[in-house]
Amino acid sequence: MCGIIGYVGEENAVPIIVEGLKKLEYRGYDSAGVAVCGQNGFFDVIKQKGRLTALEARLSENPIAGNMGIGHTRWATHGEPSDTNSHPHVGSQNKIAVVHNGIIENYRQLKERLEQKGIAFASQTDSEVIAQLAEYYYSGDLLDTVIKVANALEGSYALGIMCLDEPDMLVAVKKDNPLIIGVSGHGQFIASDVPAVLKHTNKVCYLNDKEIAVLTKGGARFFNMDREPLSKTPETVTWDIDSAEKGGFEHFMLKEIMEQPKVLRDTIQSVHSGGNKEVIESLEAARFDKLVITACGSAYNAGVVAKYVFERLCRLSVEVELASEFRYKDAIISDKTLVILVSQSGETADTIAAMREAKAKGAFTLGIVNVVGSTIAKEAEVCLFTAAGPEIAVATTKVFSAQLVLLYILAVRFAAALGKMTEEAERGLSAEIAALPGKAEEILSRIDSIQKYASTCIGYKSIFFIGRNIDYAIALEGSLKLKEISYIHSEAYAGGELKHGPISLVEEEDTLVVALSNCGRLRGKIMSNVEQVVSRGAKVLLIGSCQDAGQSGIISYIGLPEVPELFSPSLSVIVMQLFSYYVAANKGLDIDKPRNLAKSVTVE
Ligand code: M6R
Repeated sequence: MCGIIGYVGEENAVPIIVEGLKKLEYRGYDSAGVAVCGQNGFFDVIKQKGRLTALEARLSENPIAGNMGIGHTRWATHGEPSDTNSHPHVGSQNKIAVVHNGIIENYRQLKERLEQKGIAFASQTDSEVIAQLAEYYYSGDLLDTVIKVANALEGSYALGIMCLDEPDMLVAVKKDNPLIIGVSGHGQFIASDVPAVLKHTNKVCYLNDKEIAVLTKGGARFFNMDREPLSKTPETVTWDIDSAEKGGFEHFMLKEIMEQPKVLRDTIQSVHSGGNKEVIESLEAARFDKLVITACGSAYNAGVVAKYVFERLCRLSVEVELASEFRYKDAIISDKTLVILVSQSGETADTIAAMREAKAKGAFTLGIVNVVGSTIAKEAEVCLFTAAGPEIAVATTKVFSAQLVLLYILAVRFAAALGKMTEEAERGLSAEIAALPGKAEEILSRIDSIQKYASTCIGYKSIFFIGRNIDYAIALEGSLKLKEISYIHSEAYAGGELKHGPISLVEEEDTLVVALSNCGRLRGKIMSNVEQVVSRGAKVLLIGSCQDAGQSGIISYIGLPEVPELFSPSLSVIVMQLFSYYVAANKGLDIDKPRNLAKSVTVE
């Protein structure tokens, strides 16, 4: 949930770290800090509550410099957001400085032990214990100390550690949280994510759990916990720096919404060659008697859509489980179960735990992941990659669309392999999938009318999303998108459920209902639901193929290009993303970094 970065090399570490933190701010933005081994033989540390801009202001008043440094952007877990609780943390002997992403579960016990030895703590964080413990163990060899510290810690961590006595050496270690090592001509980097180092290098090594990196100006060496050297060859990252920049858009979210036709095209193309093709061809549909999709947030919503598609096309039983529930429920799965883990980051703690639980029970695991080198990408038996490039906005858009399209493709392939579909039908549906990017473009060309409509909606107290069947599935995502960036109360309901309780929430003037109507045989039913809420005073936005909307003024209508209903979520979601975006933009909110959220949820 936090972002860490470190640099050792020929250049001044401070601007490199601050620039890198900007690319990691999506991971947390309660406070930020930077520490360098200063020229005076001490650590120079500047930490500041609030956004990175506040840290930058402090740094311009008190410039610091050094050839080795570490930086951090925080999403608070232990201790309120404050200057003191910000990272880097320095031990009380002022000898060792640490940045940490993760949670130390046994920090209370460790802290008590150290306090009994007279060590005074300055913050309320779990992370400070790492710096204090490292100083306590230190006897002239930082690598040795890091091994001892890592062996004493329980929980999750990605760490960057510097010691004043070894001022040319930056040490990193990780467990259950991501950490990459960047290598360049002028120096070496550690970072929570690739975009933080892309300006300087596209050569990265991925650290595995309990592996240690020792970085100096001259290069990177790797060790295991027994101090045995490991060999790692840097991989070349294909994302370019532009894909991690805003490119003239006001927000990353809008840029990423607009990128969707390309992302859909690239993802569809990806199954015709290379790794994705091999994975899809290797899956034997007949081997499985049950399919479980498990994920969190929007990725879970993609799973709910996929359930409707798989069940309709393959007549195969599909369960969709929140990963946070799946991991503890003692799931009924076997070696005949295919468990699909859907995750943009590939680092979501609950989804990783669900994957490990599924593997331990003998199920076959398939990851659908955006970040190459992430934990799910590495640990799932096979993995399909969404070809979306880096997604920076906390609210996912383009990766969600790429997840959907991969799941459609998989469902069509499974249906054909299971003999539930003729070759002709398979060709027909594949052509419909191939047509989605063009239809997405058509919707995006109508952006002005969606913007205009959204600007009239900022005053609603509640906005409900309703739909039936697959429209209900995608309504879940519409509602999540709206609430996470606009802070307007929102829920999604299956149309048929309204009369069982939710309709009592409809208030005259204060309620907008976004109704989805893409399911031909259920159109009459959803229109009855619309009538029911209209007669209780709600305003309605209807999205879908329903030209008979009528009642203008009460019911506004956004039509979609013609599309088979099973694939309609790919189009209606774009309308809902734009609607949410413009509602939030009209409220003047910080769209890319909504309050209390972080993009990558690497803690439980
Ligand atoms: O990286 P993941 O896809 O595993 O993340 C899962 C959720 O945290 C994520 O989809 C979250 O719900 C998004 N902020 C929604 O826009």
